[in-house]
Formats: sequence, C-alpha cells, structure tokens
Amino acid sequence: VSRVIPVDTFDLVIFGGTGDLARRKILPGLFRRYSAGQMPEAAQVIGAARSEMSVNEYRAMVREALMEFSDKAEQGEEVIAGFLQHIDYQQVDAQGDDGWEALREKLRDGIVRAFYFSVAPFLFGDIAERLKTRGLADADSRIVVEKPFGRDLQTARALNATLATYFEEGQIYRIDHYLGKETVQNLMAVRFGNILFEPLWNAQFIDHVQITVAETVGVGGRGSYYDKSGAMRDMVQNHLMQLLCLIAMEPPARFEPDAVRDEKLKVIRALEPVLANEVVRGQYEAANGEDGYLDHAGDPRSITESFIALKVRIANWRWQSTPFYLRTGKRLRARMSEIVVRFREPPHSIFGEEAGGRANEMTIRLQPDEGMDLRVTIKEPGPGGMRLVDVPLDMTFADALGPDAEEVPDAYERLIMDVIRGNQTLFMRGDEVEAAWAWTDPIIAGWEEGKTKPAKYDSGSSGPEAALELLHRDGRRWREIR
Ligand code: BG6
Repeated sequence: VSRVIPVDTFDLVIFGGTGDLARRKILPGLFRRYSAGQMPEAAQVIGAARSEMSVNEYRAMVREALMEFSDKAEQGEEVIAGFLQHIDYQQVDAQGDDGWEALREKLRDGIVRAFYFSVAPFLFGDIAERLKTRGLADADSRIVVEKPFGRDLQTARALNATLATYFEEGQIYRIDHYLGKETVQNLMAVRFGNILFEPLWNAQFIDHVQITVAETVGVGGRGSYYDKSGAMRDMVQNHLMQLLCLIAMEPPARFEPDAVRDEKLKVIRALEPVLANEVVRGQYEAANGEDGYLDHAGDPRSITESFIALKVRIANWRWQSTPFYLRTGKRLRARMSEIVVRFREPPHSIFGEEAGGRANEMTIRLQPDEGMDLRVTIKEPGPGGMRLVDVPLDMTFADALGPDAEEVPDAYERLIMDVIRGNQTLFMRGDEVEAAWAWTDPIIAGWEEGKTKPAKYDSGSSGPEAALELLHRDGRRWREIR
C-alpha cells in the first residue's frame, strides 16, 4: 500500500536553478518525490538563471546533479528520463527585463504556482518585484526563500519589508531545513502525542537540556560566505534556535501554522540575554591530517568562529532554573546531532546511594542513526542483591518501523511538498526570524566590539576546552561527541 499522499499539479520555478543548492538539494529532493510516485504527471519544474542554455543543456546539467547528489540515481535511465520530462529552463535577468515575459508564458493558469528564491538575498527584492508587476505571481502564488535571512535584526527587517511589499505573509515560505528533518518532526509527535512526557516536561523534573549539532566537514569552498557569518549566524540563530523552540514551547492548540509558530515565538521572546562568560567561541586549527579554518577563510587573521557553545536561559514559569546548553561546530570528531533531555534524580533513593542508578535521560538523535532512547534504571539481573543499572529503551526508527518503512525522507523534499500543499507549519514566520535576530545581535555585538578571538581547537577534536568547562562549573557534562 502506497503511503504517498498526492499533491496538486504545480509549476515550480527555481531561481538560481543552476546553483549549488538546486543541484545538491532541491533537484535531488524533487527526484526522490518523483521516484516515490508523488510528482503529478503534469507538474513542471522550471530552472531559471542568468546563463544562456537550451532546455536540453539544462536537463543534462540536472542529470549530472542527480548522478552526483542523488541516492536514487541508480534507479536507472528510464526513471531519470521520466523525471527530466518535467524539467524546463528559462534564462532570466533577475535585475533586468530579459526572460520575464517568456517565463510568464510557460506558467499555466489554475494550478499551484511556486517560486523558489535559491539566490543571494540581495536579489530577493528584484525578483519579488518582477514576479508581481509583470504578472507572474498572483494572490495564491507562493515564494520560497532560503537562509541567510539577513545578518542581523536590521537586515532581516528590511528583507521582510521588501517581501511584504509584494507578497502576503501567507505566501512566504522561509525555509529552515532543520524543520524538515524527520526526527525534528518526530520530536513534536513524541512530546504531544503521548501523555508520558508532558507532565514531566518542565523545570521541576528536567535538570537541563543539551543540543549538539556537530559536523566533521570544514568550511572548505564556502570560506568567503562563512567568514562573514560564523557559527552563531550560520547555525545557532536558525537551526539550533528552532530545535530549542520545539523542545521548550507550550503545547500548541493545533498542529497548524500559526498555532505552532505563535508558541515558538513566545519561547524566543522569553530568552534571557546571554552573559559574555557563558559563550565559548572556537576556531579549528590544522590537526589530525586536516586543514585549519584559516586555510580557507580568505582573511588570514579572521576571528570568525567555527564553533560555539552557550548557555541559554528561558525566563518563564516552565523553564525557570533549567538551562539549555547549545553547541555546534565544524571539523569536530564526529557528525552527530542530538538533543539530550536530562531529568532530575529521584528525590530519594530507597536502595541507598551505593546501589547505583542515574537520572533518566532522553536522547533524540537527529542524525545519523535517527531515533530516540530513554535511559531508565532497572535491577541488575542475577542473584547479587539490589544493584541498579541503566539501560536504554531504544527506539531507532529504522528498527522500530521495520524494513517496509519508507526511507527517511530528506528535509528538502518534505518541505518542497509542503509548499505545494500550502502548509506553512514547518516554515518560519517573519516575526520569528526577527525575534531570533533580536536575541542574537547583542551576543554577537559583545564579541565584535571587543574583537574577541575565538579559542583554537584541533580539527577532529570535540571543540575547545572552555566549552567543557561551561558545563563542568555547573556540575554537568556534555554528551561525548563520538
Ligand atoms: C546549513 C549551514 O544551513 O546547514 C551549513 O549553512 C551546515 O554550514 C548545514 O553545514 C548543516 O545541515 P545538515 O542538514 O547537514 O545538518
């Protein structure tokens, strides 16, 4: 039985259709949906970019991108050829007149129309304006925009204002691809689909929360973008903030766009300013056969951070006295993204301290090896008396769902289909993005003013020592990056 839920026929235009994101994520994502039988027969995907290119040349480029970046490419020539039938190309000048009329003629009336802005943000305004004034977009059309959504509150506001000149908020889909990750959605299912957790989900029962997004990749070819960004802007303001919101928010009344986003916004607005001594910034150095950050940074004296750890407090009833520790970095020992919810110890041990046993801990593994486990204390088997051990109640999704389960879909394919469905639940609202910058800005200003240098850490390590210290001084420790 197919569990593919059909979507309406659509025209999807990808501005920046020859770019990196299109080749790595958007087109392979669409191809996966096609392979799964979810792409309507009459759906049309139009790459739009500056280059002069025939449709066949563009299709050849798409084919190459699939060979390189899609795990489905081995499905064979026929499937790829079928997908390519849906692909068209139009040369357009985002800042000029060329190509817009031709693009308009390719669009069909009466079906879903979506425009993906996979281009640098300085072009958002030009494209939005042309879509609107030249009659390519109507009141039901959708636009999809990518991060970076500004680099601070002021630029984010300006971007929101520009888009709002031409589109309603209900037409704007701001992507944070972390929200499209299967496990991230599961987080909401587990929290709000069970009665077990919610009564304990507060400062009375939760000691602290850790959110780690560790990567092994370095900045490589993205040095010039990354150096102006750093881990705080690149990862914390968006991805880690979204994870924090999903853990910390109040139960929304419904799983609907504004109900969910209202609750997330309240969390962001309740964040306390972060103290300077509760942020640790790091920059990787050559070690373990890997290069150092400065080898790619463009500026050999760059003080941009490739690692950050911080202690975050949420000033509301639910979380008063439960800190959230966030950390993310590049060139770390392992690729590991997980959230650890550490419960408090039972108030009294009837077995005596020496019997062992530890606090319950729930681990949500975002990637790799998606799943969850809940550490519980049981009796050590055998006749040796009442000794306690910890065992994980393991819910690795692949095991739990069995071999027939659909493969875990990539974040992008899920989100693109949500755009077609017109469902904004997993997209960021303008005020949410602004609130996140309003919290981030003073933290960044703190080190930019002081020109504070990040601490060095070895490529392939688990980050700077000071990050460990951040928890040690609270009598806690990070989950090992492994
Ligand atoms: C992107 C960041 O948004 O997310 C990258 O710009 C980062 O620097 C990437 O590597 C991580 O995404 P994922 O899905 O690989 O965890």
